[in-house]
Amino acid sequence: MSLNTLHVNVTPAYPIHIGPGLLRDESLLAPHLTGQVCAIVSNTTVAPLYLDTLRSTLEKLEKRVLPIVIPDGESFKTRSTFDHIHDVLLEARADRKTTLIALGGGVVGDLTGYAAATYLRGISLIQVPTTLLSQVDSSVGGKTGINHPLGKNMIGAFHQPQVVLIDTDTLSTLPSREYLAGLAEVIKYGLIRDIPFLEWIETHLEELLQRHPDELSHAILTSCRNKAEIVAVDPLEKSGVRALLNLGHTFGHAIETGMGYGVWLHGEAVAAGTILAAELSHRLGYLSNHDVDRIVTLFQRCSLPTRAPDLGLERWLSLMMGDKKNESGKLRLVLFEHMGQAKLTELSSQASLSRVLSPQTGRFIDA
Ligand code: NAD
Ligand code: GLY
Repeated sequence: MSLNTLHVNVTPAYPIHIGPGLLRDESLLAPHLTGQVCAIVSNTTVAPLYLDTLRSTLEKLEKRVLPIVIPDGESFKTRSTFDHIHDVLLEARADRKTTLIALGGGVVGDLTGYAAATYLRGISLIQVPTTLLSQVDSSVGGKTGINHPLGKNMIGAFHQPQVVLIDTDTLSTLPSREYLAGLAEVIKYGLIRDIPFLEWIETHLEELLQRHPDELSHAILTSCRNKAEIVAVDPLEKSGVRALLNLGHTFGHAIETGMGYGVWLHGEAVAAGTILAAELSHRLGYLSNHDVDRIVTLFQRCSLPTRAPDLGLERWLSLMMGDKKNESGKLRLVLFEHMGQAKLTELSSQASLSRVLSPQTGRFIDA
């Protein structure tokens, strides 16, 4: 496996470097560091594994490293953890040339990104994602933020990184449940816009499940290419194109918020949410039964949940009505136009949705 580089063509454009051993490669970091101080935000799980390696690489560049280690978990993606990052930066008198480096999964990436977007009205950010999910999705595109008790990712900002460094070696320590959750977001790209990639995943799933380096590298590269293309045409999620990345997420975010942050992993909630979106698309005439079964089979092969928990119709609707995509009180969902193509849909009636979410008629909800 060698180094691959893609570019995200926003203003200014930035590179995504993908390959093994990148945490040790100072040449990829050096062009993006302006000041003397680099604050590395990581968590209590990832820091013992990788912080010293990254610190040594930065010290070779004669940078002063300020480590900020936060507790691990979705339940810590909160205002108080966000405040803690700012507290440490202020106490260290970190100036505007400081670079914040997110070393960890999507939780660390989103929190660090939001801290970088807001500290001194915005400082440089570098994303060093260490989960499959963060390597294929959350580290690219500049969405940052924290959760609110009333809704997932409801507070945040767009803040693009200077560079995304994807060291594929870090996936060797990722627990299996987290790895499988990341596959849900890989499959998403096939479902929303890339049917050849979906077919490739179906064919090479055994190798992906065993983390074979070549297949894994191809999956990360193709996912990042899809994400970069989408972000380049709709960086601020205004035209509806970027919203397609949210296939299954309106249902998924309702599961995460409804069950309590951290009970369901984000990728697991997205998998179950995607099945609900597929079932609704079927009821509205966009997907065949065969298409829905094909998606269920693929998620089942990944040991991902294909049934959502029964939150109760009223709670489902109340959680989904809080989604960021909604406008003027109307529920907007990402559904399928056909297999391999998603579309943003404003529901004119809630009848089909209610049937999908009802324990009596929804074939995917556990009664
Ligand atoms: P996570 O950040 O909680 O990481 C999962 C677990 O893996 C954690 O316990 C973490 O400590 C551990 N871990 C991370 N790297 C490891 C490694 N290399 N070895 C061993 N353990 C490791 O979860 P995630 O799935 O990476 O990210 C989910 C978050 O990302 C959610 O909050 C979701 O909302 C967000 N997200 C954001 C975007 C975006 O565009 N910003 C997109 C998708 C998801
Ligand atoms: N993960 C959704 C987005 O980046 O838009």
